[in-house]
Amino acid sequence: MAPREQWSSKIGFILAAAGSAIGLGAIWKFPYMAGTNGGSIFVLLFIISTLAIGLPILLAEFVIGRMGKADAVTAFKRLAPGKRWPIVGWIGFAFGFIVLSFYSVVGGWILSYLARALIFRLDAADHGQLFESITSNPVEILLAQAVFMLLTIWIVQGGIKAGIERASRWMMPLLFIFFIVLAIRSLTLEGAMEGVRFLFVPDWSLLTGETFLIALGQAFFSLSVGVTAMMTYASYLPKGERLGQSAFSVALLNIVISILAGLVIFPAVFALGQSPSEGPGLIFIVLPAIFGQIPFGSFFMILFFILMLFATLTSSMSMLEIVVSTGIRAKYDRRRRAAWVFGALIFIIGIPSALSFGVLSTVQIFGMSIFDFADVLTSRIGMPIGALAISIFAGFILTKSQTSKELNMHPILYNLWRFLVRFAAPAAIIVIIAAWLIEIIR
Ligand code: PFF
Repeated sequence: MAPREQWSSKIGFILAAAGSAIGLGAIWKFPYMAGTNGGSIFVLLFIISTLAIGLPILLAEFVIGRMGKADAVTAFKRLAPGKRWPIVGWIGFAFGFIVLSFYSVVGGWILSYLARALIFRLDAADHGQLFESITSNPVEILLAQAVFMLLTIWIVQGGIKAGIERASRWMMPLLFIFFIVLAIRSLTLEGAMEGVRFLFVPDWSLLTGETFLIALGQAFFSLSVGVTAMMTYASYLPKGERLGQSAFSVALLNIVISILAGLVIFPAVFALGQSPSEGPGLIFIVLPAIFGQIPFGSFFMILFFILMLFATLTSSMSMLEIVVSTGIRAKYDRRRRAAWVFGALIFIIGIPSALSFGVLSTVQIFGMSIFDFADVLTSRIGMPIGALAISIFAGFILTKSQTSKELNMHPILYNLWRFLVRFAAPAAIIVIIAAWLIEIIR
């Protein structure tokens, strides 16, 4: 039987985990959410939520993953024999399917934009209309989604070292370097400072409970916590590496890229008199309009979509990895076939989400489009519930001596982590879910 793989180095693991975290959450959702939720206040709350709640849960996933040394279902079986905890692994498995089914739709949009930018430039009189015509065209959108899934499958079937680690190793550094280049381009536009002010100078009157909840939800989605992706990645880590440092690096890199994305987008938005509160179309509608007006705009536009594609792929492969590793359990020689079979299934499940911007736009589930429903189901239910279970497991089921040995951290930091993961994180998650339920009932 094929042996279980490992990352070739700590940095390889950090880049892959940061790759999972940094994706549409940081580059697409973060700017538009900041834009519609008060800018700087949202940024501040997002940073606090990431460090105080997201990071402790991320570390909990790392601990469980490395101690279990297996896919999530097997890990829970090993760490709490005879109990029902493996259900958490199965929840991750199920949500791996759902999250990738709609994530790949946006992955497809990026490919469509990229192909159009390369072939005909993205000139359009009305970019809003262009966005609508692309996202509602069934043939183009399904084809693009299929290509995006093929790329994801192709990387994941290569395995941990030759597939996921190798892809992350060159995609992530390029993402950082070119995002800095893009931010400089945006910051040197005339009138750019208004955008910087929007991101960093807080207007305290905008501080509300709702903004806090939205920022917390964003921190979860953005750190990929709650669906066992990070647990699975940590299971390929050898003993001895300090988990605390790795988790902190991942959280910090995710914050840095989110803010860089803001620094690419908002200075340009303000410099060219666009609206920061455009919503989900912000990147697809406002950016091409902006890039159309600045020197070397089409070059920067293409660069932006290539980077966004990298960021999206390094996240989508972690979603497929959850499904593949749980699907094959210890039968590592089945990885290749599993990646193709599950990848194809995910594509099929994603078809209704893709079509929900066109042919199926009238179909509603609980008053939402199919795409929004899949998104809400994962980000507001699946991930928070998974994260709650994971923090309880790490805080109450694993013993203090087990986790302190595994984490090998300074006692003050260890005690802080244990407090956050036992009390602060579960309380915050229960509040998010309760607040959301109340909102629905009202
Ligand atoms: N963190 C990813 C992003 O922000 O785009 C999304 C994500 C990746 C969610 C992996 C869940 C997951 F398992």
